[in-house]
Amino acid sequence: MKSRTAFRITLALAFVVTAGTLARATSFSPTAVAPTPVAADYEPVDNMHHLMEYIYGPVFGELKASQTNTDDENYWKTVKKTTLVIAEVTSLLAQRGPDGDNAKIWTDASQSLHNAAKATYQAGREKNQEGVTKNLALMQAGCKACHGTFKK
Ligand code: HEC
Repeated sequence: MKSRTAFRITLALAFVVTAGTLARATSFSPTAVAPTPVAADYEPVDNMHHLMEYIYGPVFGELKASQTNTDDENYWKTVKKTTLVIAEVTSLLAQRGPDGDNAKIWTDASQSLHNAAKATYQAGREKNQEGVTKNLALMQAGCKACHGTFKK
């Protein structure tokens, strides 16, 4: 009985070790591994409506609703967290505009918003409230610049 249990354990261990070796072996095989995505392969996960509803609206809302308290580390964290999300996501937003006559309005608005969010983020890192206030207004202008043409 005891030796049978020991045998089973040995068998189980052998299986685990073999599986581990196989897993490692396949991860080096070029055919078994999915190609690493590059920026050019970027595919949107969902439509513009949901991107705005779930990311831009709530994230910018959180930033605007945060109580300015320059002595509070959490205030600066909120500034940095929200502006970094918007700055990074807006690089992707810029690629999702329409073709045709209005394409430039889309990319210009995205660029303004990206720049303003980046500047707000940097001001947050430096705990520079004046910079946050100034660039927050520019962020809002970036939202409006696009909505004026594209949001029904
Ligand atoms: C480059 C264009 C562009 C920029 C910049 C932009 N938006 Fe939008 N936004 C849109 C479009 C297009 C829609 C309409 C989407 C739809 O309903 O199909 C929209 C819709 C929205 C909505 C409505 C979503 C809903 O639930 O109905 C909110 C909220 C929103 N945007 C927030 C923002 C905020 C906040 C910013 C700035 C931080 C911003 N957007 C910047 C293009 C933009």
